[in-house]
This record gives sequence, structure tokens and C-alpha cells, in this order.
Amino acid sequence: MKFSIAAAAAAILFASVDAKTLLFPIPQSVSWTGSTNQLSNDFKITGAKNVHVKDAAKRYNKLIHKENWVQVQVTPKQTLKKGGYLSSLHIDVKNNNAKLDKGVDESYVLEVPAKGGKATLSAKTWVGALRGLETFSQLVQAKDGKKKGGKLVAHSAKITDAPTFEHRGILLDTSRNFYPVKDILRTIDAQAFNKMNVLHWHATDSQAWPFYFKSHPELSEKGAYSEEETYSSKDIKTIIKYGQSRGVRIILEIDMPAHTATIGESHPDYMICADKFWAPFAAEPPAGQLNPLHKKANKLVRDIVKEATETFPDSLYHTGGDEINTACWELDAGIQKYTKQHNMTTKEVWFEWTTDLLKYVTKTLKKTPIIWEDPVRDGGRYPKNTVIQSWIDPPSTYTKMGHDVIVSNFDYFYLDCGHGGWVGNDNRYDSPNQTESATDVFNYGGGGGSWCAPFKTWQRIYSYDYTHGIDKSHKGKILGGELAMWSEQTGPTVIDPRLWPRSAAAAETYWSGSYDKKGNRRTVKAVSERFYDWVYRMQARGINAEPVQPKYCATHPNACDLNDPSAA
Ligand SMILES: *[C@@H]1O[C@H](CO)[C@@H](O)[C@H](O)[C@H]1NC(C)=O
Ligand SMILES: *[C@@H]1O[C@H](CO)[C@@H](O)[C@H](O)[C@H]1NC(C)=O
Repeated sequence: MKFSIAAAAAAILFASVDAKTLLFPIPQSVSWTGSTNQLSNDFKITGAKNVHVKDAAKRYNKLIHKENWVQVQVTPKQTLKKGGYLSSLHIDVKNNNAKLDKGVDESYVLEVPAKGGKATLSAKTWVGALRGLETFSQLVQAKDGKKKGGKLVAHSAKITDAPTFEHRGILLDTSRNFYPVKDILRTIDAQAFNKMNVLHWHATDSQAWPFYFKSHPELSEKGAYSEEETYSSKDIKTIIKYGQSRGVRIILEIDMPAHTATIGESHPDYMICADKFWAPFAAEPPAGQLNPLHKKANKLVRDIVKEATETFPDSLYHTGGDEINTACWELDAGIQKYTKQHNMTTKEVWFEWTTDLLKYVTKTLKKTPIIWEDPVRDGGRYPKNTVIQSWIDPPSTYTKMGHDVIVSNFDYFYLDCGHGGWVGNDNRYDSPNQTESATDVFNYGGGGGSWCAPFKTWQRIYSYDYTHGIDKSHKGKILGGELAMWSEQTGPTVIDPRLWPRSAAAAETYWSGSYDKKGNRRTVKAVSERFYDWVYRMQARGINAEPVQPKYCATHPNACDLNDPSAA
């Protein structure tokens, strides 16, 4: 008895009892080597050559000290050997000049040796180094879980990591409601924390045109909500540059030929049905679509697409193309004449217009186009190098045809869903008996006016399986996914909690994949501990992520479980 107490006391001198390290998104391979290293007072990050890696090294060194992270989620304690002092993290990058673009290598290997000394981060490209720095920052915690004293430790480990999907994005709609630049930059920061690499900028729509084009300044002059609610050339450059420095590609979408009513503010003659009440002619107010046969309108389309592809360095450009309303176009005598003359349907006019635009983007502007699935879903056929963004049909529909696909299925990834209605003059909320009944499946028991209710929970988002239905015989592949933040009911006051932490749930499936290396499905149950803590850590980093449970649950592990963990 006495002996074992003495032995235990001795062991304490050489070991520390520590919380588990929680990483998010989980790397492809982590082997913990069972010791804890204290960061020396003059801990340095060395070896950075690329300017973005240099900046990131400074940024992350500051972050780990400022953050001085103490886990909120209580985890089973573990006994670790005392390693030594960690004096530095040395970065070794093979290619410092790689272009941040589709398919750039983002892999890295991070090693924190068991005995301390020098940690190493090796990456094929500077982008991989950024991902590795993020992981390193998550390894660092306050010593003994105490904020006081400011000593930091990192558990020793060897981490080998690379993304499962190359396209890991968020769509942000800046038309329906406007976001100041600082909110977009903070969103990019949060994306980088989550190893996401694409911000799909849905810049314009039928409600407002905040995006400045040098070739057509009248569009934002007339179409923005106000002069303050515009993105100037300088703002646009700031956003692209900020994304570059965080390894986040900014892919622009100017949605056309529907979702363009605001063009009518400066060019009413380019539009059809812009003067009509919206309901029969558009998915939402206001109505108004570009006239696909109007020469000057098509010149404007080419001007802005050219300028857009010159401004944005990415090799992908999003040409939009969703939710065409043929009833709108059929009001026009010119369209009626054209369809009769050419024995075409109105939809075929749309397909033809799309073919021309795609040809212009690929042949003249040398970019790879992304389009919403709509024209393909309706029967249009396009070159296989066209990337399809799917939001309705299973992505396998398009991989089977030979297209690469970005998955944004509305029933999982539309972050706007479940917030009720927003159109006015609606008496469907007036219910006589305050309960679900045969005559009221709207306000009670229904979606309450949200077309895509219910709210997509983080658990639902996490449960999406990208491999479902994708066969080896398909010539197209899944490039990855995007969550869509449509902004009818979102703006700068709520952007963080609407995006986070739900986007983080998707980010792990994008980066780590829906299956681990052994082929086991990643589950909500297995990720919970890491996810809960990550919510607090994002909050500590200045992202106003929404709570996902009472803090009590994080500090009382298993107490909030659905099933009694002690039951057989
Ligand atoms: C018009 O097109 C339809 C469908 O493609 C075809 O069946 C029909 O023969 C065409 N009519 C003429 C006059 O070309
Ligand atoms: C609710 O009110 C409607 C309209 O007055 C009526 O037809 C219906 O029977 C009521 N249902 C219940 C469950 O009371």
C-alpha cells in the first residue's frame, strides 16, 4: 500500500494529467505520442518564405498566446509524460509560388516531437502550410488547463493530413441584404479556422446590385440600396487579397439571366416583365428577367463577365443560371416570334443563351464555368467541363452525365431555411383555433412560410454523405460542397450565428470526409465532443457562433445524453 502511494507520487513528478486535445476538423491521421511539451517563452515559428505564410506565422503565434486556450468541453483525463520545451515550429514548404486555385495541394505533415525541441510542419505548397498552422494552433492549450501564468503546452503528435474534397465553400448572398466588408473578412477568417477554401460570392440579385463594375458603373449607381451599400473596386480587391492570405478563393457569381431585376433600374429596355407583380413571374419579388434576345443586353452580359473574370484570379467563374421563369419571357412579342420562327420552346431559348455564355467564358475568357443545375435539370446539355452546382437533384444525376459537381442540396445546406415567411399581406398566419388542423397546416404543423423549412440543424448537415449514389463508372466527380447563406432574412446583425457553427459541421465533412480511413462512417455521436468544444473556441476567436447546447452539458459530460450511458 505504502509502496504504491510512493510510486504514484513519483510518477506525478514525471507526468501530467491533462485534457484530451480536440482538433477540428479532424485530420486524416493523428498519432499521439503521449507527452506534453511546454512552449518556451521565446517560442518562434521559423522557415516561412511565402508572404502569406509569413503573415500567418505571425498571426498564429499571436493567436495561441492571446487565446491561451482552456477547453470548455470536459474530456476524460489522460496521463502524459513530460516531454520538454518546445522552442520552435519550423515550416518547410516545397512550392512557395503555387497558385491558390482549383486542386492546389493542401496537404501537410505536422510533427511535435515527444521530447520537445523543434516541431516541424512540411507541406508541398504554401497553402498546405496555412492548413498546418491552423492545426498547430489547435494543439496548443493553456498549461494545466489554467489561464493564469500564461504558459502554453502542446501535446506531442504526428499528424498527416489532406482534404477529402478540394472545394469547401460557403455561398454568401450580398444582394438581398448588404454586408459591410468587415463582416465578409471575418467570415473568411472563420472559414480558414475550419480549413474551408472557397467563398462563393453571390454578389447581385433582383433586389439590389451592390457590386461596382468599371465597365458599367450605372448598375450599382442605380441598383444598390444606397451609395454606402456598395462594394467599390477597392473593397473587392481587399476581399480577394484577404482571401488569398488565408487560403480562401473568392469565386464570383453574377446570377443571370433570371435574378437580374435590378439591371432594370439602369436599363429598363433590357428587361422583360419587370413591371409585373412578381408572383406569376419570379420565385420571389421582384419580377424582371434579362431579355435573352436583346443585343445590347447581351453586350452588357459580356462586358461584366469579362470584367469579373479579369478581376477575380480564380480559374472558376460562376455564371449563375437558376430559376428561369418562362412565363415572364413568353409575355414578350420578340420571344414569341423567335420561338415560332425557330420552332423552339422558351426553355430552349434559355439553353441556347446559356450555351453562348458558357462558350464565351471557356473559349474567350479561358475560365471554367460553374452553373446552377437548373438548365441541365430542365433538359439543356453543356460541355462536360462545366461544373454543376446541385441544389435540388442528387449530385449523382450530374456525375453520371460526366459533370463535376459542387453539392449544395437545399435540404441540408441552405442556411436560410426555417425562419418563417417574409412576404407581406399574408393571412395564412391567422388561425382560429391555435392548433394544427385540417385547415391549418401552415402556421401550425407547417413551414410557417419558409419554403424550405425546417431549419437545417448542424446534425443534419453533418449527416450528409457525398458518396451516396456516386458510382465508379461516373465520369464526373464530387468536387465538394457549399453551404448557401441566402440573405432574405440574414444581414450583418445575425451573420455569424446563422453561419456558425453549422458551417463548421459541413467543413469537417468537406475536409475529413464522411468516412474515416478505415471506411467507418463519421457520426454525429462521434464528433459531438470535438464539435461542442470547437463552438466555444470559435467564439473565443471572435466568431459569434450560436450555442448548440447549455454550457452545463459541456461541463457535465454524458449528463445530457439521450440514452443513459451506464445502461447496458
Ligand atoms: C418542331 O419541333 C418539333 C420538336 O422537336 C418537331 O417534332 C417538329 O417536327 C418541328 N416542326 C417543324 C415544322 O420543323
Ligand atoms: C379549426 O378552425 C377551422 C376553421 O374555423 C375549423 O374548420 C376546424 O374544424 C377547426 N379545427 C379544430 C381542431 O378545432
